[in-house]
Parts: sequence; structure tokens; C-alpha cells
Amino acid sequence: MPFSNRGCQTNDRTPESERICQPWLENVQPVRVPAARGRLRGAARKPGRVQAPVRVEAVTTSYHLLAGPGVSRDSITDAGLSELYRHPDPGDRAWVRTNFVSTLDGAAQGPDGRSGSINTASDRKVFALQRAHADVILIGAGTARAEHYRAVDLEPWQRELRSRLGLAPYPTLAIISRSRDLPDDLARPAAGEQGGPVILIAPHATGEARPTPDHVELIELDDHDLVPCKELITALADRGLRRVLCEGGPHLSRQLHAAGLVDEICLTLSPLVIGGHASRTTAGALLEPEPYELAHCIAADDQALLLRYLRGHRAHS
Ligand SMILES: NC(=O)c1ccc[n+]([C@@H]2O[C@H](COP(=O)([O-])OP(=O)(O)OC[C@H]3O[C@@H](n4cnc5c(N)ncnc54)[C@H](OP(=O)(O)O)[C@@H]3O)[C@@H](O)[C@H]2O)c1
Repeated sequence: MPFSNRGCQTNDRTPESERICQPWLENVQPVRVPAARGRLRGAARKPGRVQAPVRVEAVTTSYHLLAGPGVSRDSITDAGLSELYRHPDPGDRAWVRTNFVSTLDGAAQGPDGRSGSINTASDRKVFALQRAHADVILIGAGTARAEHYRAVDLEPWQRELRSRLGLAPYPTLAIISRSRDLPDDLARPAAGEQGGPVILIAPHATGEARPTPDHVELIELDDHDLVPCKELITALADRGLRRVLCEGGPHLSRQLHAAGLVDEICLTLSPLVIGGHASRTTAGALLEPEPYELAHCIAADDQALLLRYLRGHRAHS
């Protein structure tokens, strides 16, 4: 289940990935993409482009909306699911969405230290759908190392959806790191020939620094020991990367929350209990409690709950 699998960043086409591809494309309305101030490799944009209707394939997983807009007893259509996960129009500033999976007992890592062992099929689809809606996938280097992240490749249905929405062909992968300890082949997608641009955002190196992997753009921020999250998000927004999807991990998530930057939390509650000492979806020192409002709650037929919460003031904007 490669293209959409948390914990597996390869992009091999499999019968299952073929079966679930292209489900999201009906009734998709175009969005207007703000002009990028600095264009990244492969990030050409065609705002507001609308294409002819696309044929879609059936999927087997069914989803039922328990709370949210238009609750009914019917299962959610593919187009409806896509709308529920459309990345809100960010306007002038970025809109930061985090996406995590957690077990019923709060673990963000499976027994193998990765998230791929605790997710479900319904989570993988929604994960892939969110990627299709994002300008940039933001991660901390710990997640890049644990989950073997590589440049983001997409399935045809994801690329088609992006094209309809007027988004760049691929989302950029942005990684923050102080150590710059990243795999050399980071910019090469695990399978396929193309992948999105990759950028590394790091504090300015005072001494000798590890070389940046080939084809990775380096953004160095001066006068900082750690990358400050506000500057990080501003640097992304300045490049036209305003639909920010943070896929982790827990330490980066905590910093984004501490800076008051998380507009939206998508969380999959996976029907597992694993015990142990795994990290939660945020790690580190206590935060000032921050209220969020439920935007939707979906029950999937594989027993997962798919939750979307909006930060108080964003829920009403
Ligand atoms: N359940 C889920 O949905 C989910 C999602 C993502 C990850 N995970 C799991 O979470 C675990 C990784 O956790 P983690 O908390 O270590 O991941 P993380 O937050 O992605 O990575 C932490 C690392 O990111 C870099 N970093 C973070 N903040 C920084 C800053 N302000 N400036 C510069 N660099 C910064 C540092 O990298 P350097 O050490 O290179 O300096 C730091 O060690 C893995 O087991 C992964 O599987 C789970």
C-alpha cells in the first residue's frame, strides 16, 4: 500500500493501490492558487484550471459521517470525502493542518517504532487524499529518518485531482533539521521517475555542516539554534506554499502548537491497543491547553474513526 502508506514512502503501484486510485475526482471545484513569490523546482502553477470530467473507480472502504456538514445515514461518496478533506483556502497566510494516526491507547508509533504498523486502509486513503490537497508536506527530521521519507511521488488520481484544483503537480517535501542528518537519496522518489521538490530548512551552520543531499534546496535561517516555527511557516508561505500539511512528528507538532500555528488537526483513531512506551502525537513539555472544535467525525468500516478539529478562531473564519 505504498503511495499512501504512513511508514512506507515507496510508490510502487500495486493491485490495491490501483483499485483505490481516482476515487476523489467527481464534482471537484477549482481553487485559485496564490502566485508563488519564489518558484521551486517542478512547482509550476496554473491557477484555476478546470479539466474535463474524469472517470472514477469504485472503492471498497465505506465511510459514514457521524458529525459534520450534511450528516446522513448514507455512506460518504468519494467526491464528498474529498470535499471534507479539501485544504481550506489559506488566503494571504498559511493554513497548517497536522495529520496523525493514534491507537486507542494513545500511541503514535507501532511496535516497530513507525506509524505504518498502526494505521488502517481507511486512514491510508485519507492520508493520500490530504497529500493530494497540500502545497507542502512538512516533517521533522526524526520522522524523515524513522519513516524513510523520500521526495513525494503521487498516483495518477492524486495528480489529476491536483490538476483540477490548480495545484502544482506535486507537493513539496519540507524537512526541518538541526543536525542535517538525512539520507543521501532523499530527493529521489522511492519508485517512479518523478517526485516533488525537496527543501531542507535548517539553522545557519556555524562550523562545518553535513552536505545537503543532491537536488535538495537548502534554506538556512540565521541567528537561531533551532528553526523557529513562525519563520519556518513564513518561509514556506513566501514561496507560495500555504496549504501546509504537517505529517509529524511529535516534537515538531509540539513546537507548532506552542507557536499557536496549528489551524487544524486531522487524527485517525486506529482500533488497536498496544501498550508500551510509544510517543503520543505531541511530545515534549506541557503546553497551555488549547481548545479545538470538532469539524467532522467519520466512522470507517475498518473500525477507524477519522476526526477533524479546527482551532477555535479558525472554526468560525
Ligand atoms: N502516528 C503518526 O501519525 C506519526 C507521524 C509522524 C511521525 N511518527 C513517529 O514519530 C517518531 C519520530 O518522532 P520525533 O518527535 O523524533 O519526530 P520529528 O518531530 O519529526 O523530528 C524531530 C527532529 O526534527 C528536527 N527538528 C525538530 N524541531 C526542529 C527545529 N525547531 N529546528 C531544527 N530541527 C528541528 C530535529 O532533527 P535533527 O535531529 O536532525 O536535528 C529533531 O531531532 C517516529 O517513530 C515516527 O514513526 C508518527
